[in-house]
Amino acid sequence: MPMRINPSILAADFANLERELGRISSADLVHVDIMDNHFVPNLTFGLPMVERLQEVSPIPLDVHLMIDDPDRWAPGYAEAGAASVTFHVEAARDPIALARRLRDIGARAGIALKPGTPVDPYLDVLHEFDQVLVMTVEPGFGGQSFMPETMPKLRRVADAVTDAGLDVWLQVDGGISVDTIGVAAEAGANTFVAGSAVFRGVPEEQIELLRDAVAS
Ligand code: DX5
Ligand code: ZN
Repeated sequence: MPMRINPSILAADFANLERELGRISSADLVHVDIMDNHFVPNLTFGLPMVERLQEVSPIPLDVHLMIDDPDRWAPGYAEAGAASVTFHVEAARDPIALARRLRDIGARAGIALKPGTPVDPYLDVLHEFDQVLVMTVEPGFGGQSFMPETMPKLRRVADAVTDAGLDVWLQVDGGISVDTIGVAAEAGANTFVAGSAVFRGVPEEQIELLRDAVAS
């Protein structure tokens, strides 16, 4: 089972993003956090930034939209060339229609679940998505502590994916470090977003440490 490490550039040096991309060349994808100061109480950047990152990044982009009205905005990120576009499911008017549109454009389509968002309404339609992001902190800020109480939900998604014989990536995001990544892998995650854990040290070394921690 391949384990993917997706560093979040939320913790990188925003004044030198191209250089920062060069420090994570062993990453699987680059996680790009889009916040609109409405869906979450914080603001980052938007489509023009992603279009430019797409031009310079040797690593595919994993866009995480923490925004209202993704039905309107998400397709633009897929059109920009993002490898995956993940939106928060309660923010979308029609999550399945949106996922189909993202796939039609050529991106992997993902739904994200906040710690308090139940997964049960989506367990029967997991085939409509390429990845499910189980948030392991409240979205909005980097550097928060991993919430182990989100693990039973992750396990439920993992079991449903296995039972249905699907290849849906299970992503965790928030507080992932060498100390917590094993717990998330144990509960079924195979795609790990890490911001502060990667960029607080030497990024390539930190990526390797995270990989080692889940190597079986
Ligand atoms: C939080 C973001 C995360 C953030 C994770 O809302 O979605 O991607 O960058 O940061 P760390 O790894 O520092 O918790
Ligand atoms: Zn994120």
